[in-house]
Amino acid sequence: MMDFFVDTADTNAIRELNSTGLIDGVTTNPTLIMKSGKSHHAVIAEICHIVDNLPVSAEVVAIERDDMVREGKALAKISHNVVVKVPLTWDGLQACHQLHQEDIKVNVTLCFSANQALLAAKAGATYISPFIGRLDDIGLNGMDLIEDIRDVYDNYDFATQLLAASIRSPSHVTQCALAGADVATVPPGVLKKLCEHPLTDLGLESFLKDAAKSKT
Ligand code: E4P
Repeated sequence: MMDFFVDTADTNAIRELNSTGLIDGVTTNPTLIMKSGKSHHAVIAEICHIVDNLPVSAEVVAIERDDMVREGKALAKISHNVVVKVPLTWDGLQACHQLHQEDIKVNVTLCFSANQALLAAKAGATYISPFIGRLDDIGLNGMDLIEDIRDVYDNYDFATQLLAASIRSPSHVTQCALAGADVATVPPGVLKKLCEHPLTDLGLESFLKDAAKSKT
């Protein structure tokens, strides 16, 4: 089963999408938190309350291992469904290892290579977040990375879930599903576009016209 996470800290959007039953979690990052205009802990607590038991990724902003672990533990205390997000650095990998040993789930973010994903899996990451759109932005093919990580993880049966991030279009979502990503974290606008097709609109319009002409 492919899971959909919503990539936002906009609580109104999360509330609306959660009510559809189509989302399986939420991811945030410092930029999304800043855009929410709320404090980090307050908005994470609000999101956790809205989505109940679904995983909610909350990112640390510390850069030293011990500080990351301290910050991660404080974030994890907000709610049982917080997943601590750490960057893919040496310190981040060590913090991941330590948090994992203390049964705290970790999402290792800012992944741009299969080797980085391999290290995150060995460090005990629950999720690895490779960024598709940002690779596309610099003229590379972000989807190649998703396919490579899928192969690497399958070769060794790693339990780390491949969470495709930095998704910018419905086509990215299709390609992630074809490549076997476990999760796609998708901005609300892109998530809604997944449902759209011009032939659906045209077909519905003509069905409704014909229905109006039918005898009652
Ligand atoms: C998710 O975890 C990432 O923070 C997010 O998908 C980044 O997306 P962007 O590259 O569009 O900012």
